[in-house]
Amino acid sequence: KVIQRAPSQHLGPKYRPDEEKPSATVSTKVTHENVTVLPQTPQLIALLTMIRDKTTNRADFIFYSNRINRLLVEEALNHLPCLPQTITTPVGRPYAGVQFEGKICGVSIMRAGEAMEQALRECCRSVRIGKILIQRDEETSLPKLFYDKLPGDVAERWVLLLDPMLATGGSALMAVDVLRSRGVPEDHILFLNLIASPEGAANFAQKFPKVRIVTAFVDQGLDEKNYIVPGLGDFGDRFYTL
Ligand code: PRP
Ligand code: URA
Repeated sequence: KVIQRAPSQHLGPKYRPDEEKPSATVSTKVTHENVTVLPQTPQLIALLTMIRDKTTNRADFIFYSNRINRLLVEEALNHLPCLPQTITTPVGRPYAGVQFEGKICGVSIMRAGEAMEQALRECCRSVRIGKILIQRDEETSLPKLFYDKLPGDVAERWVLLLDPMLATGGSALMAVDVLRSRGVPEDHILFLNLIASPEGAANFAQKFPKVRIVTAFVDQGLDEKNYIVPGLGDFGDRFYTL
């Protein structure tokens, strides 16, 4: 099957003449207000190229996906509220800055979502992390909930929900249902995701318009097995076992 390329954008340093700049497939545009797609920079596209490549070995897959996860966490933190804070610098001058407001926690959708925990820990020291074990049925693609363990005060925290793949959206929607059943307001949930399908993003926006999604890339669609295309295959297998 011929993969259709989205309108290409010129990437790369400015010193090259336009006709020599490489072009690449960038994220599909989405209009849902709750979806933020990371800037499609040459760095991000190069990192995604590494992890999408079927010949990339497990060590490189872990390293490069972790770099993208860091970008996702940094962007997601920008969506949290801040308070003004003026401090004094060592030369005795005031600086009008800000400080973070409120408490956060991570919640990973196991197994693949656990791969994003390291990036969260690197940015937010000693962050609390809850777990929700949801597995997608290989035949029906329907999610099944097995287990959850969340911080006792999760309802008072901003929740960074972690899962690298948003395909049909079934697993992530189920995880949001679990969080809401524990009292987490919809607008206190940020879903951090590496690659989304347009269908998954639309499902989410329709059911939970107040949950914010921060994703690195919205792909072309789903195949007959509900895998994201072009995608990167099974994230959990590539990160943990292959
Ligand atoms: C994958 C992925 C998501 C889900 C996405 O997990 O990590 O949780 O599928 O598909 P959906 O949007 O159609 O629900 P999977 O259930 O394969 O388990 P894993 O994390 O153990 O790989
Ligand atoms: N889960 C994955 O790991 N990849 C997909 O493309 C879809 C679900």
